[in-house]
Amino acid sequence: MTAPAGQENGRGVRESSVTPSVTSSVVSTGDSSRDQARPRDPKQRALAALNAARERTALLTSCVDDGELTAQHSPLMSPLVWDLAHIGNQEEQWLWRAVGGREALRPEIDPLYDAFQHPRATRPSLPLLAPAEARAYAADVRGRIVDMLDGARLEGSGPLVEAAFAFGMIAQHEQQHDETMLITHQLRKGPVALTAPPPPVTSGSGPPQREVLVPGGPFRMGTSDEPWALDNERPAHIRMVAPFLIDTVPVTNGAYLSFMADGGYHDERWWRPEGWAQIRRHGIEAPLFWRRDSGDRWLRRRFGATGPVAEDEPVLHVSWYEADAYARWAGRRLPTEAEWEKAARYDPATGRSRRFPWGDADPGPEHANLAQRHLGPAPAGSYPQGASPLGVRQLIGDVWEWTASDFLGYPGFKAFPYKEYSEVFFGPDHKVLRGGSFAVDPVACRGTFRNWDLPVRRQIFAGFRTARDAESA
Ligand code: AVJ
Ligand code: FE
Repeated sequence: MTAPAGQENGRGVRESSVTPSVTSSVVSTGDSSRDQARPRDPKQRALAALNAARERTALLTSCVDDGELTAQHSPLMSPLVWDLAHIGNQEEQWLWRAVGGREALRPEIDPLYDAFQHPRATRPSLPLLAPAEARAYAADVRGRIVDMLDGARLEGSGPLVEAAFAFGMIAQHEQQHDETMLITHQLRKGPVALTAPPPPVTSGSGPPQREVLVPGGPFRMGTSDEPWALDNERPAHIRMVAPFLIDTVPVTNGAYLSFMADGGYHDERWWRPEGWAQIRRHGIEAPLFWRRDSGDRWLRRRFGATGPVAEDEPVLHVSWYEADAYARWAGRRLPTEAEWEKAARYDPATGRSRRFPWGDADPGPEHANLAQRHLGPAPAGSYPQGASPLGVRQLIGDVWEWTASDFLGYPGFKAFPYKEYSEVFFGPDHKVLRGGSFAVDPVACRGTFRNWDLPVRRQIFAGFRTARDAESA
């Protein structure tokens, strides 16, 4: 696999008292205040989102010792201590300097934490802030921002501040890095540092059908009124979609094992040329983090613990090429991004697009497996209360879902507030992922939210579901 160059984009309460770092402690990610109802007032909401993000950041950076924070666990990832100071630096640049109009606190460190200047693989050799310094810096910035937010006038102060947008953007940025840091934890070798309770068991059966028909015709895609939606989700626009069928649940390990048992990794017919080249070059024949035991059973490693591959769980840690090959083998295809969003948001009774599959309410623990409450996906068919009007489940949470689509701007796209968040990644190199994983916080997850990555990527928390054209009626 090629090492990423500047894959992560650049510009990128008060710090809760951070638990002293101890390697031997195992921290549970499961209990947090995040599932409580979100306050309506934008200031309250911003403060709660910033607090929740910092709580998560503190957890992910306090469960390992300083040596592990500064180590490079994979050339694909930054050292955890880079993410920590980068989070603070982005907050300083956007909230302290851009919104507050204040003097830079640490301008000399800006280049170190600019993702475009230093590819991830080279970050450990930079003169980075040491863990204690990075924590203190992020906490100092946060203290100032909380005071600033308290006295800020949000209305009529321009688009950056309206509805606390920049504060919401920074909370989303920190949560995105919290997912990135969780990926680093997954790549890290060594004893277990993080645990969480398993996802709740769903009583009753799964969805009645394997796939559902999504009617053809126009639907409203994207958003112009979600206050904290990022630039690439905007503007709302009408898309025509031909009728299609889509899986009611993500593709499971069991189904994926059938593809493997059928020689899927050794049959060039199913693969895009670049995907075939990647699996041949690296000898790939299973999802990342899988290995066979002596009895030929498949095991997977997850956050330092090894266990059997569960057949009923959504497949995780496959590249876009693997997802695409599986779909072709199955006589199906990946859904386009527009199809995914229509399946997730379109309400045939009203013709309206919802914020989420279940409606307009923010995600609760009954709707979706989010927020690192559980450190893995729930079995396929879970979360019936999170189903879309057409009966599609687990669109939000559990695993990011690869789509067939390249990452492009919507008609009328305007970069905001900076080109490096989305626009510089537009084009055929990156594929869109939708729906969010178990590692994503609700603040960075909605029916319109778009993620993107290179089609070779396997360490991200990604799986997929499949679709097919409806036969002409
Ligand atoms: C949207 C997840 C692709 O991590 O590269 C973080 C998010 N942007 N800092 C990334 C992001 C700037 C971005 N992804
Ligand atoms: Fe960033």
